[in-house]
Amino acid sequence: MNISYAQIHKNIHFWYQKYGRLDLPWRNTKDAYEIYLSEVMLQQTQVKTVLERYYFPFLKKFPTLKALGSAPLDDVLKMWEGLGYYSRAKNLHKTASMVSTLPEEIEALKKLPGIGENTAHAVAAFAFKKPVPVMEANVKRILCRLHKLKTPTDKKLWEVAYTLVDTNNPFDYNQAMMDIGATVCRVKDPSCDLCPLHSICQGKEEPALYPTKKKRLVPTREEHIMLSVYNEKLSLTQRSGKFLHGLWGFESIEVPLCAAEYIGEVRHAYTHFKLKCKVYVYHEVNKAEKDYFSIEEIVKLAVSKVDDKIVKLYLDTIQRY
Ligand code: ADE
Repeated sequence: MNISYAQIHKNIHFWYQKYGRLDLPWRNTKDAYEIYLSEVMLQQTQVKTVLERYYFPFLKKFPTLKALGSAPLDDVLKMWEGLGYYSRAKNLHKTASMVSTLPEEIEALKKLPGIGENTAHAVAAFAFKKPVPVMEANVKRILCRLHKLKTPTDKKLWEVAYTLVDTNNPFDYNQAMMDIGATVCRVKDPSCDLCPLHSICQGKEEPALYPTKKKRLVPTREEHIMLSVYNEKLSLTQRSGKFLHGLWGFESIEVPLCAAEYIGEVRHAYTHFKLKCKVYVYHEVNKAEKDYFSIEEIVKLAVSKVDDKIVKLYLDTIQRY
């Protein structure tokens, strides 16, 4: 059967009106900053987490691009605490300090810190109604199945995305594609019968073959974390290296000190490695007084998930005694 793209766009639009997540806040605003913020938060984080814990508090604290750009980076990191991938927050802050309004064109957007191909396309389509496709993970999967692509290059994916996009209504079309990917064209057990792209999908007989699953072996990194305790305060420093830069954290050393007491282990999984931290406490003062913080003070600092787990382990430990 020959079916036109116009008909597919109609099917997608109909599906979206019926089943789409129409009430997501970033789908109900024309404010480019609010849309840009949502796209950055959603780059590596699920809708549920962004919606329940981060999007509204962040906008309340930094309601405009200008307010964000003139805020101290520490305040921005604090609002990002727990969301991970902190370079996103640093780049948002940098962009906000560079421009007073976001540019509309993809090429200009891509020149800003932290805005890659997909975020530029998403901001252009959603904030400025440009007739361009977006390419997040769910959309990629749909395109791979539609065209039976196992290991496509980015160039190929953008090519097929541009062919399919509904240029008359890029906003609804792109939002719909993400929802279809998330709820119908699922990784496991997709509901092909309910898919508005069913009639043109070449991969629907064996959707599990497209795209080829990447097997990722992630190494485990072990660290010894030393908690220096003085007057019921813990010593923390602001990280200056590339990893978790700007966040506050505890000292990691090669060989634990003899005088230190082992209190337990915390683990955290990052994309590229797993971190296993053996945690020790010691009471020798080897830092300046200003480097020690009470629990009330630590709560106000931006710390990573692992360091937060370490604080909890420490509090559990002292409560037991
Ligand atoms: N992931 C990235 N952008 C999104 C959006 N606009 N809606 C839902 N999930 C998304």
